[in-house]
Amino acid sequence: MNEDIVGKAYDSRLMKRLLVYLRPHVAVVSIAFLTIVGGALVDLAQPWLTQQAIDRYITTGNLGGLLRLTMLFLALLLFGFACDYFQTFILQTTGQRIMHTLRMQVYGHLQRLDLKFFDRNPVGRLMTRVTSDVDALNDLFASGVVTVFGDVLTLTGIMIAMLVMSWRLALVAFVVLPGIAWVTAWFRRNAREAYREIRNLIARLNAFLQEHITGISTVQLFAEEPRTFQKFDVINARHRDVNIASIFFYAVFYPAIEILAALSGALIIWIGGWWSQEGIVSVGVLVAFLQYSRRFFQPISDLSEKFNILQAAMVASERIFALLDTPVEIMTPAAPARRPAGARGRIEFDHVWFAYEGDRFVLRDVSFVVEPGQRLGVVGATGSGKTTLVSLLLRFYEVNRGRILIDGVDIRTMDLADVRGMIGLVLQDVHMFSGTIASNIRLGRADIDDATVRRAAAAVHAAPFIEALPGGYDAPVVERGATLSTGQKQLLAFARALAFEPSVLVLDEATSNIDTATEALIEDALKVLMAGRTTLAIAHRLSTIQDMDRILVLHKGELRESGTHQELLARRGLYHRLYQLQFRDQVLAGPATAS
Ligand SMILES: Nc1ncnc2c1ncn2[C@@H]1O[C@H](COP(=O)(O)OP(=O)(O)OP(=O)(O)O)[C@@H](O)[C@H]1O
Ligand SMILES: [Mg+2]
Repeated sequence: MNEDIVGKAYDSRLMKRLLVYLRPHVAVVSIAFLTIVGGALVDLAQPWLTQQAIDRYITTGNLGGLLRLTMLFLALLLFGFACDYFQTFILQTTGQRIMHTLRMQVYGHLQRLDLKFFDRNPVGRLMTRVTSDVDALNDLFASGVVTVFGDVLTLTGIMIAMLVMSWRLALVAFVVLPGIAWVTAWFRRNAREAYREIRNLIARLNAFLQEHITGISTVQLFAEEPRTFQKFDVINARHRDVNIASIFFYAVFYPAIEILAALSGALIIWIGGWWSQEGIVSVGVLVAFLQYSRRFFQPISDLSEKFNILQAAMVASERIFALLDTPVEIMTPAAPARRPAGARGRIEFDHVWFAYEGDRFVLRDVSFVVEPGQRLGVVGATGSGKTTLVSLLLRFYEVNRGRILIDGVDIRTMDLADVRGMIGLVLQDVHMFSGTIASNIRLGRADIDDATVRRAAAAVHAAPFIEALPGGYDAPVVERGATLSTGQKQLLAFARALAFEPSVLVLDEATSNIDTATEALIEDALKVLMAGRTTLAIAHRLSTIQDMDRILVLHKGELRESGTHQELLARRGLYHRLYQLQFRDQVLAGPATAS
């Protein structure tokens, strides 16, 4: 998915795939086709009627005939209007419908992709896929594919009509065509370059904005505003300049076509006028030719414009299809295995190896078992792979070697929803969605009723703070839960986990940045949460996991020690060192944080 894809203007493989989206709308689009043909015929008929009016009625003084012809002319105009109306209406609605389908498809696929994909693809880029790239395709359906057909039809029709009326005058009118061809080629070549550049810059603007708005507090903290502003200015100015440069091509192209059209008109008047004196062409033909030549150049400039739309759509579809074709690597197998009935959540890591990229292994040959109801603590230095353990257990990433079993069943053979549904995960950084407190606890699960929400909140001591909020459980929560404190979000996450009644509980750094009073609350809440549940708790602070049934010590991706707090201390190994370091810190920090 490269922003630099220039793309061919026309790619039959892509087009074939795009046309699939038109298939459900074939009936209405055929009607649109008919209206286009109708519109083109009306366009063609008008100059011809003019010629008839002049040569047959005006020069002969047949006013009755002239009136009839005028009525016919009016009727044709009305018919042309109806054709235009239906064409616009049908094509625009179809475009909107296709856009809706595509967006659902892209978003649906996006949701199923694994985290490895999101590690590699910035948010800004993915947003572009779902928004403006899909828009570009809409243009294609609404004003591209089908109407190009109309333009071509009009062009050929006019050429034939002119040749039939007077082939000699037609050749005169066509004298400017090589000039048109040259100007159009020049325009297309340059507009395409500019277009690619502009797309690139827009993508960069988006990415920059996304990154710096998300990180606005860091920008402000380090007084980076002026520098950030300048960086933004560099991209923005470039965007302006490239656009201005591209305006030049447009500003030259359209007037140039106009001039050539006028030139053609002048030739028709001059040579045609001359020939009409000699009786080679009639005055009516001359007037009809002038009208035809005006109509002739319009579709030519339209076609160039549509060429750009086509190009944009090809680039957009290339990217969208690349996204849709990204294989979903982590999914439920066709016939998922079931856990044995009555199983209570036994976790086993069996010689697990894992690397985020290539063969830079983050976990090496990790094996351990957590029996049902057992509480396991995991400690280790920063970057030792603790969070990675959790990500693998939830199958956010796939193990490279070895396997992970829940109740004896390899998680790769299980239904993904089963695996994730049985595990309650509480992370240090709790993600909140915009909505209410209650909606954030039940997360869209309709079967979790208000009473359960309240019971869960009360059990983890979240109720007092929730009830103090204006609106209580219906208090609004903004995006990312920006108006809640970290401790409050933590408590809500506990309530969320409890409401879902998972059989396995996974905590990652759950209690690391909370004041002492809240910590007491949280420790109590944790006891409620862990009761009867297999628990895997990751902590930096040893105080939180001291009374776990067993503690593992991870070191650079390897399992180094395992045992109870007392056993590990007695070994005087890594754990002992960690403990001593922390104990010293706690003493230095004063009694408030000592445990
Ligand atoms: N998404 C990722 N892509 C590539 N490498 C990653 C990714 N996430 C983590 N890593 C790397 O994997 C290693 C283990 O990371 P992990 O998050 O598991 O550590 P951790 O033990 O949880 O650390 P901490 O105590 O700081 O939370 C680190 O070296 C880290 O740089
Ligand atoms: Mg971590």
